[in-house]
Amino acid sequence: MSEFSTTEITAGDEDLHSTAVPGNSRKVFIKTYGCQMNVYDSERMEDALSGEGFVQTNSMEEADLVLLNTCHIREKAAEKVFSEIGRIRQLKERRAGTGKPLTLGVTGCVAQAEGEEIMRRAPAVDLVAGPQTYHRLNDMVSKAASGERVIATEFEIEQKFAQMPQIERRSAIARGVAAFLTVQEGCDKFCTFCVVPYTRGAEVSRSPAQIIEEAKRLRDAGVREITLLGQNVNAWAGTLEGRSLNLGELIFELAEIDGVERLRYTTSHPIDMHPELLTAHRDVKKLMPYLHLPVQAGSDRVLKAMNRHHTRAEYIDLIAAIREARPDMAISGDFIVGFPGETDADFEDTIQVIREVTYASAFSFKYSPRPGTPGAELDAQVPETVKSERLQVLQDLLKEQQIAFNKACVGKQMDILLEKRGRKDGQLIGRSPWLQSVVVDGEPEEIGHFIRVRVTHGGPASLLAERA
Ligand code: SAH
Ligand code: SF4
Ligand code: F3S
Repeated sequence: MSEFSTTEITAGDEDLHSTAVPGNSRKVFIKTYGCQMNVYDSERMEDALSGEGFVQTNSMEEADLVLLNTCHIREKAAEKVFSEIGRIRQLKERRAGTGKPLTLGVTGCVAQAEGEEIMRRAPAVDLVAGPQTYHRLNDMVSKAASGERVIATEFEIEQKFAQMPQIERRSAIARGVAAFLTVQEGCDKFCTFCVVPYTRGAEVSRSPAQIIEEAKRLRDAGVREITLLGQNVNAWAGTLEGRSLNLGELIFELAEIDGVERLRYTTSHPIDMHPELLTAHRDVKKLMPYLHLPVQAGSDRVLKAMNRHHTRAEYIDLIAAIREARPDMAISGDFIVGFPGETDADFEDTIQVIREVTYASAFSFKYSPRPGTPGAELDAQVPETVKSERLQVLQDLLKEQQIAFNKACVGKQMDILLEKRGRKDGQLIGRSPWLQSVVVDGEPEEIGHFIRVRVTHGGPASLLAERA
């Protein structure tokens, strides 16, 4: 997932992200792979560890604790972990006996899926912790640091939601003016290609009271844009003061918070797009006109084999309804090519859907058979060369659409949230309502403010603009 046009990442992104704050006490280095939820979890782990006196470092060499927060979504993502462990083992060996030993932990979805195997194959690993055990992280880390090998892969999502320490104000400020907020975790959909229901467990929603409180804390730390996260974020459900809410209704509540100026949510499943969400898109100004709504494939036969629970026509109709509610809505998606049994004609159906919908951005992948998923057991696996050819065709089209979308912005005025310094002095990078990066002249004091700009240039990955 690297063809995204902004600094954002999305579910399944295999790039890694590390954050750091200088300091002198015990140091932790967290390397994050995978989706936004891992980014969010890594931040929460940093917050939890900072309560124990850990500070972050962006140098693995000087860390006392290294955590690899891993992703299991495709084979390539999972393989990276074992090669990284190999490299860290050497560092660990160098450090043994220096009086500054290194503790190595593996967290995230590979930890959940392959925890036992990691323990068996990689003696350098001191700690394995699945995504729903992080509320016990400090305890596990201190055990691991004292020489005990710790493995935790229980599904304790309610405890995680209830017991993780609150967002730390100082780190929230350091992280910037746009933030993630997990509202839901897990997945009950069981798409036949996907490991997530096994690594993240069943769908569980956080309570609205907790979500609203966290949104206010983020706002107090200067956050202006919040992206609500969930593996199936639009399956979120909760109760507030005796009223049942779905995600659309939650968005109405969050929009009431002064200072939170923009809201987004990701990732949605087409079968959970409730009418209230469409109403929110129509009526809530703070809800941005950008929706990540993966379809994966365009042929009804493949959609059925993937267990996606909807047809191609239903998806197309849904997109039309969304655009009726919010005419300037930009749609983004995920696609898989070469699912077992996918024929040339099936693939052509996917291309047709892309042509009909026109995407502002998208992520696309070759099908990767994952152990334990029904798809991996199917006959008629598609040869690698065919997958590569199809991916090329599909990505060329998606790229063309993304460039067209960005070029169509030239001459338009829009409000952008100034997010960070640009590459050159006197330049800032802002975020458009459609999640594009916008380069504009400005000074660092303006970060966190909204300005109105006119777009002067639309490139493949970003826009240039001047003040309107
Ligand atoms: N919950 C989200 C996405 C989770 S994973 C959703 O339902 O859309 C992110 C993306 O990775 C998926 O949308 C899919 O396109 C891709 N993906 C998941 N499993 C895959 C596999 N086995 N091979 C290739 N791509 C996969
Ligand atoms: Fe995976 Fe499907 Fe669940 Fe998304 S909806 S996380 S693709 S099983
Ligand atoms: Fe990867 Fe787990 Fe996210 S498998 S995409 S890190 S939910």
